Amino acid sequence: MQTQAHLHDIARSLVVPKKGILAADQSPGSMDKQLKALGLAPDAELRRQYRQLLFTTEGIEQYVTGVIMHDGTIRNRTDDGTQFSDLLIAKGIVPIIKVDKSTVPFTGFGNEVVTQGLDNLADRLSEYYDMGARAAKWRSVFTISDDTPTEQNIVFDCITLARYAALCQEAGIVPMVEPEVLFSGNHSLERAEAVTTQVLQKLFELLQWYNVDLEGVILKSSMVLAGSEWSEQTPASTVAEATLRTFANSVPETVPGIVFLSGGQTPQRSTENLNAIAQLEHERGDLPWQFAFSFSRGLEMPAQEAWQGKPENVSAAQAALRKRLELNSLADTGEYRTDME
Ligand code: G3H
Repeated sequence: MQTQAHLHDIARSLVVPKKGILAADQSPGSMDKQLKALGLAPDAELRRQYRQLLFTTEGIEQYVTGVIMHDGTIRNRTDDGTQFSDLLIAKGIVPIIKVDKSTVPFTGFGNEVVTQGLDNLADRLSEYYDMGARAAKWRSVFTISDDTPTEQNIVFDCITLARYAALCQEAGIVPMVEPEVLFSGNHSLERAEAVTTQVLQKLFELLQWYNVDLEGVILKSSMVLAGSEWSEQTPASTVAEATLRTFANSVPETVPGIVFLSGGQTPQRSTENLNAIAQLEHERGDLPWQFAFSFSRGLEMPAQEAWQGKPENVSAAQAALRKRLELNSLADTGEYRTDME
């Protein structure tokens, strides 16, 4: 069992400058969808081969502090029998486990959903701890429309996040709380900012109310973006202003780090926005949090396109992953330029 100080150390170690987190935690269903889009016939073995490709990429530890995995993935082994979590630990990378069990309809509230997975969570965390996991992710999902998210949806999901976070800390595991405000939709940037602020304020109110130690928490957040169907794309500098203003209005200073999901933006756009956030943070110079990327699609899409499921393309796919990691590492300190693509 870790002490409180250990939890703080782990949390801080996940958000160091020039590094980020690889979110390789697609559920088997989402992973299969991505593999089918490449024209492949996915199964557990193909998913294992794909994750092996990612995790054995030479030099990823230069850019990656942690890797998020689904239950099936953390139990996988490489061709030579090494448990994936042991492979990552040997590279100095923290294995992170996704512990929520996805969403179910929020009965009585139209199309809204809530995240499930609290049953037996304490037992599951103890098993994951023994497998080497030192952080755990839980994703809640909020959809923006004229009348959503409802306050009931926000409160329910944030209480659930608080309960999961408390159980994680008791198990010596850093909770990575992820209240994802979806990019899809035709909402304005202002509406996205208002909703994200409302969700984050409620989240931190409830985390504190349920005695979660905020120094041992990582926030995984959406960037604040106008919806994917909104008439124009917001310039990266405006995204950065809205995103940092949102955090200033909602995230307590004691939280050590904020990491971003890519949320369905193109890889390049996720990197450009991260870069603008880092530049604005640098200009301000007074923000208490470390920022980092924690992308899935934003890091993996080019690698999947290069791979196409063919063993002869593994090196090209690993090079594509390394390139995306390198660009995001530069963006993490505001040193990325689009002509580096
Ligand atoms: O829960 C979401 C993932 O961890 C991040 O995925 O970068 O594709 O949005 P994304």
